[in-house]
Amino acid sequence: MRRSIRFLLGEEWRDLSDVDPLTTALDWLRTVERRTGTKEGCAEGDCGACTILVGRMQAGRLVYEPVDSCIRLLATLDRCHVLTVEHLRRPDGRLHAIQRALVEAHATQCGFCTPGFVMSLAALWLDDPSPDEATIERALQGNLCRCTGYAPIVAAARAMSEDDEADRLRFARMRREAEDKLATIDASEPVTLRHGARVFHAPTTLEQLDALRLAHPEATLFAGATDVGLWITKQMRDLPTLVWLGGVEALRRIDETAGALELGATVSYRDARAPLVAAFPDMAELLDRIGGAQVRAMGTIGGNIANGSPIGDMPPALIALDATLVLRSQRGRRQMSLEDFFVAYGKQDRAGDEYVESLRIPRIAEGETFRAWKISKRRDEDISSVCGAFKLRRDATGAVAAARIAFGGMAATPKRARASEAALIGRPATRETFAAAAAALATDFAPIDDWRASAAYRMRVAQNLFERLRLDLAGAPTRLPAREAAHG
Ligand SMILES: Cc1cc2nc3c(=O)[nH]c(=O)nc-3n(C[C@H](O)[C@H](O)[C@H](O)COP(=O)(O)OP(=O)(O)OC[C@H]3O[C@@H](n4cnc5c(N)ncnc54)[C@H](O)[C@@H]3O)c2cc1C
Ligand code: FES
Ligand code: FES
Repeated sequence: MRRSIRFLLGEEWRDLSDVDPLTTALDWLRTVERRTGTKEGCAEGDCGACTILVGRMQAGRLVYEPVDSCIRLLATLDRCHVLTVEHLRRPDGRLHAIQRALVEAHATQCGFCTPGFVMSLAALWLDDPSPDEATIERALQGNLCRCTGYAPIVAAARAMSEDDEADRLRFARMRREAEDKLATIDASEPVTLRHGARVFHAPTTLEQLDALRLAHPEATLFAGATDVGLWITKQMRDLPTLVWLGGVEALRRIDETAGALELGATVSYRDARAPLVAAFPDMAELLDRIGGAQVRAMGTIGGNIANGSPIGDMPPALIALDATLVLRSQRGRRQMSLEDFFVAYGKQDRAGDEYVESLRIPRIAEGETFRAWKISKRRDEDISSVCGAFKLRRDATGAVAAARIAFGGMAATPKRARASEAALIGRPATRETFAAAAAALATDFAPIDDWRASAAYRMRVAQNLFERLRLDLAGAPTRLPAREAAHG
């Protein structure tokens, strides 16, 4: 077992043993390393001012992702290649092509947000040398600017690959060298850090994780920390024992079989996007509206399920798709339908020593349709007021033969709309049938009423989704231009 974390900050090794498990990467960068180019705006993953690039070893190669360093814990940088805005400047002091493009497009005013934009654009620059406007907007969803306006920033993004050859060559060399250096760390070795009364464990196998769960049932498990990070930075909670799941390779598994898609619990939204969208094309819009690029790179689907939130975006879609969950502990595995996992507000069917291991999502069969819609006040970086997901099968006559419908934001848990399903099944797909199913929603739900949306609004907008579904099935254009899509 290793008692320190090792990673590369630019081209330099860092080997840290005295790490408070609750220290964020941002605090360490600014207060210890004095890398003050990385800014703190919100400290909750919303504004992107703290964005850094984190390269993670995957099958011997580094995969770079944009990360909100305000909620990324320092201890989880083990075996990573960390790049901050200071690393982009060329050795001769000249600006990187991305920075130059921002200057030339007048894409900065007070400048506070700019390092974050630079780093989000750097992630995009690595992934896609000539992104279209929609791709640029997706890459910048997690960055807020209060003074410049986004048009010049998007213009800079379009120009960022011009005259960037020197930067690409330098980056390729840095990446190769970092891969060679990081490959010298034994990836199978678990890490434990102690600091005063606090402990951080990073197991590398399921067996080690089982044993830790048994020994420390009180420990806080976490994966992407896009929820847990806020418990630290906003709720100031002390979490004396932390168990990080990100080092367990078996939990990052993606298996695509003929009948189903299986995702390990710590597969991030970013990694799940391609297989999910290939299997369920309608998932694209939903996934692209979860947080911003940083949250999608950090946050996991397992975390979205395990947190049990009534307004998490994945559970309604996954319940409609009839997904099953595998829970694991040292006692063995337990499989259940995802809808049965959510027992009541804040209560899931999970014993103290169990954790979410994986998720199995059956593929859509011939003749089945899947649709999922998120309704939120803003299009980007917003939590759902209501999220509705529908899986329907129609027979040769066009009548509805089967229906699974689930909603988030309508009850204390993500939940199926069984009365609405019953109102559809066996009926022709007419306006009257869908109106009856919408009306039946009042039997299924007494929606929650809070500052995000009133109960009446939630009911109304959820019922409207049935009309949207009917029109969609009839082939009518139901998608608004992307910018207006948030309001369904
Ligand atoms: C800026 C921002 C925007 C967001 N936008 C959205 C959004 O649009 N839609 C949405 O649904 N959510 C959103 N979220 C919430 C969050 O990103 C998701 O819920 C995410 O999927 C949580 O995953 P995680 O790995 O980060 O969870 P963590 O924070 O690591 O953990 C969350 C909870 O799950 C538990 N847990 C995690 N993994 C497991 C496991 N395998 N087994 C058992 N327990 C586990 C942890 O103990 C903790 O209780 C947003 C968050 C932020 C900060
Ligand atoms: S400081 Fe706002 S996202 Fe990190
Ligand atoms: S330039 Fe001032 S916040 Fe963006």
